[in-house]
Amino acid sequence: MSLTEKLMTTIARVMPDRAPDPMVGSERAVGRPLARIDGPLKVTGAARFAAEVVLEDMAFAAPVYSRIARGRIERVDAAIARGMPSVIDVMTFENCPRMGPPPSMMTDPNGIAMSTRTVMQNDEVHYDGQPVAVVIAETQDAADDAAGQVAITYATQPSTLSFESRLGEAKAPKEIHGQPPEVKTGDAEAALAKAAFRIDALYRTPRQFNAAIELHSTTAKWLEDGSVMLHDTQQSLLPTRYTLAKALGLSEDKVRILAPFVGGAFGNKGLSDHHLLCVAAARLTGRPVRLMLSREGVCRTTSGRTSTLQRVALGANADGTLAALIHTGAIPVAEPTSFMEPFSFAARCMVAAQSISVGQKYVELDVAPPGAMRAPGEATGTFALECAIDELAHEMRLDPIELRLRIEPEKEPVTGRPFSGRNLIEATRRGAERFRWSERSATPRSKRDGSWLIGHGVASATYPYLRMPASARIRMTSDGRVLVQTAAQEMGMGTATVQVQHAADRLGLTVDLVSFEYGDTSLPKCPLAGGSNQTASIVAAVTAASQALITDLLAHVPHDSPLAGCRAKDVQARDRGLWRIADPTRGATYVRLLESSGRDHVECEADAPAPLEMAKYSMHSYGAQFCEVRVHDVTGEVRVSRWLGSFDTGRILNARTAASQFRGGIVMGIGLALLEEALLDERTGRLMNPSLSEYHVPCHLDVPEIDVIWNDIPDPHAPLGLRGIGEIGITGVAAAIANAVFNATGKRIRDLPITLDKLLG
Ligand code: MOS
Repeated sequence: MSLTEKLMTTIARVMPDRAPDPMVGSERAVGRPLARIDGPLKVTGAARFAAEVVLEDMAFAAPVYSRIARGRIERVDAAIARGMPSVIDVMTFENCPRMGPPPSMMTDPNGIAMSTRTVMQNDEVHYDGQPVAVVIAETQDAADDAAGQVAITYATQPSTLSFESRLGEAKAPKEIHGQPPEVKTGDAEAALAKAAFRIDALYRTPRQFNAAIELHSTTAKWLEDGSVMLHDTQQSLLPTRYTLAKALGLSEDKVRILAPFVGGAFGNKGLSDHHLLCVAAARLTGRPVRLMLSREGVCRTTSGRTSTLQRVALGANADGTLAALIHTGAIPVAEPTSFMEPFSFAARCMVAAQSISVGQKYVELDVAPPGAMRAPGEATGTFALECAIDELAHEMRLDPIELRLRIEPEKEPVTGRPFSGRNLIEATRRGAERFRWSERSATPRSKRDGSWLIGHGVASATYPYLRMPASARIRMTSDGRVLVQTAAQEMGMGTATVQVQHAADRLGLTVDLVSFEYGDTSLPKCPLAGGSNQTASIVAAVTAASQALITDLLAHVPHDSPLAGCRAKDVQARDRGLWRIADPTRGATYVRLLESSGRDHVECEADAPAPLEMAKYSMHSYGAQFCEVRVHDVTGEVRVSRWLGSFDTGRILNARTAASQFRGGIVMGIGLALLEEALLDERTGRLMNPSLSEYHVPCHLDVPEIDVIWNDIPDPHAPLGLRGIGEIGITGVAAAIANAVFNATGKRIRDLPITLDKLLG
């Protein structure tokens, strides 16, 4: 446990719980399937995405990527490139403006880089695909063309590229995202050896690319006051500003980033090398510069998900309780400060066992630094854990749902913390009923439709609750409308829409009277859109700002007002105004309140209270994924034919955007299970399929109609009773599919993706 975490836990233990939110249960706009408020702008093309911003005198950049995995740059011959029409300059480590190391997510709580290595500051090459030169030209075509003409001579050094042959050197990190790398209770190996039933297997998941439709793009412009402005594709505005400022040696107020629209991100639209290269190119040329990565550039230089090798061993007692739970393994990373895919986290909260040994290690390779991809840790960890549970159920001749009932914990294993709201059993029961789980055959390979073998699978889903410090500003004008502002990110999830719904209810307004402004680092502080934290974080901040606004309005009422003498706790916000709780006939509309105080607007900014609930409670979202697959008996082709996701994620703020979040996660899970695999040539260190033609993501024909339901039970300790929903959808999906494939064929595939060759073997 880190020092901060220890402190938080101590404070949380002595702090009483916050009073429940009085709004829970009486919401009007919250919960409704409101269409996304940014939808019309996007479908009409009026929304201007980062790479569509045109600046006067703008130049275009194209990176050149290293073709060796490790070594030094001996010579750069850019003469031909420089001589090509429209080429302005070629930037290499020799003329790149000086920049310091960017603080990484692992070394600095505010940093967001995936590696602390400097960018283009020396002749070192650390991986195949590393940007080693940048051509800047008058047009994108000219830059791309000339990039192909930059000749680089390298002094190659021996590289380390094979993960599995280096497992003997695996090391435990100091900590993983603030948690200890290993947790243990009892002697799990001894308990496993004596258990009545035993499963002990290795599971593999591949390296993956984050495949958002919108390519990463940034356009940098230096201003006369020495500040720099970026039009960016960004899910992490303030951490990226901080990281850029540190690397550039500027104060944070000298960096401004705008990202009003983002076309998908899934975890890797924070800071990448191209941000630093673009800012440097703009400085070098004295021009605004756009650097939009090609799909190949995205695959090679922005972080994707690392591969994993996991061992899960379960030892069960005769009654189906667990005597031993072991979940260990390793991941390849670029260096010790790389992002660590926390695959061992799910096992720390999901199942009860008399002895537990959970932990993970890493191996350093000469590869691009890996990073975060939707539900980092839980997406891959639940594959191994939930397959093993299914394997144990089969071994014990128990229905896998029955086994899950027997291993359901009453409090968080290892830490003993109480759960804030865990209704996994309820979600599983409701899902089983709706999916008609009882009609499944327990015997593998016993259902068939012609040449197609039919199977059914289930797996639990889980993702942690996270809330981070945030502020919001609310401005109310004399017409009774409000503008809510915070430096939030909207990459298509419905951020703005749900915050409008929330602010409308909080202030007793209709949604048409509320606007939400975000996507700009100059707005009040907001955490990154990551770890599914954003909605809860902003809701807490908007709640605080609303309280401040109401307090301010009441402080300015004249003596003859029906609200004279009222304090915030005495009034209810409804019907576009404030009304006494004790006498609901007495109150005033906001228009009236502003008018009577002689002001044309009121503006209040407030911070959300510290997220102490996370220290006191074990807070996670849960779900149960059910699927049917059809596996062709001759070709081994797997088709997913039915899906139901049943979730327990606290209060749902918008039925439509939530369903889309769950479905989107499940679609990505289908990709993880069946299609996606970034292939690394272990001889050269080169990624062999950096394109969407050779790296397959699910398309419409790969995805059945996806049914989603949720408990909608408010979490008693989360703002508005909500837990994040952005990432849980992908978790449990790969296991549900692997379990269904086993049920269909009798073949247990523990190595993703489940391609037909593995089923034919
Ligand atoms: Mo998510 S991978 O934390 O953006």
